Amino acid sequence: MLIAQITDIHLGFEPETPGEFNRQRLDRTIATICALDPQPKMLLATGDLIDRGDKGSYERLKEAFADVPFPVYMALGNHDERANFSEVFPEYNFIDGFLQYEIDTGPLRILVLDTLEEGRHGGAYCEVRTAWLKARLDEQPDRKTLIVQHHPPIEVGIPWMNTDPAEPWVHRLAGCLRDRKNVIGLVCGHIHRAVATHWEDLVVATCPSTAPQVALDLRPIDADVPDQRQLIIADPPGYALHWWNGRELITHWDTAEDHAVLARYDANLQGMIQHMLAERPIPSEGVGTPTPTAAPNEVRQAAE
Ligand SMILES: [Fe+2]
Ligand SMILES: [Fe+2]
Repeated sequence: MLIAQITDIHLGFEPETPGEFNRQRLDRTIATICALDPQPKMLLATGDLIDRGDKGSYERLKEAFADVPFPVYMALGNHDERANFSEVFPEYNFIDGFLQYEIDTGPLRILVLDTLEEGRHGGAYCEVRTAWLKARLDEQPDRKTLIVQHHPPIEVGIPWMNTDPAEPWVHRLAGCLRDRKNVIGLVCGHIHRAVATHWEDLVVATCPSTAPQVALDLRPIDADVPDQRQLIIADPPGYALHWWNGRELITHWDTAEDHAVLARYDANLQGMIQHMLAERPIPSEGVGTPTPTAAPNEVRQAAE
């Protein structure tokens, strides 16, 4: 099963310009994902859907998603606003006041969490949300489960984007997920970069944004001294493609730009491909490695 992910769209950054830079980047990313073969089963949009929480931007977001041929599931980030989101997307049910829900894909259970605390940049996870998550996890303790949320509960090393590991919400979330062998990991947004790490025995992967990216600068930052460092860069819009193969979640990151192709599968490189594929075990002897002819089919079946 393939799961596409986009994040940090920040639509409405230029409120008076419907065709703004961030909309162009979103449209390009959606077009790239919709052209994928095989097709993803769904598209996750993991928060900071819009920039200023306004209803008009959510309406434009709805319009941008209108032609996506597979389901789109959204999570909220620190730039979102629950009341306006709810007005434009009334099909979403809020539980205990939070946008938290389950996606039952068949092979994999997905729990979408709400880490928004309006007025705060960083994440939040209160006792009420923790109780909901605990109840959902206790319902199906053996089912492979993926957690989806905007804020990664990790210190990424870019000082102004860090989450302090001592933050109470991180402890609450960790306490709920700790020792749950069926939880395979978390996919998140917020960092505007691709980051992967290990946290509480779980893989955490963040997705690059469709909006401009955050610059990679790990130097300490001083709130009193603006030092002209790069903060936001107009690198290409990105997305993630997660492949659940029934055993592991494999995360790929790519951009929505045209790639400069240096080699194609033609007669010149056929020998290399043949050798590479011939090295692998045949299906009856194999240990689950996709075989040359089975790989595309396997992906196709997994995507259905
Ligand atoms: Fe963001
Ligand atoms: Fe964010």
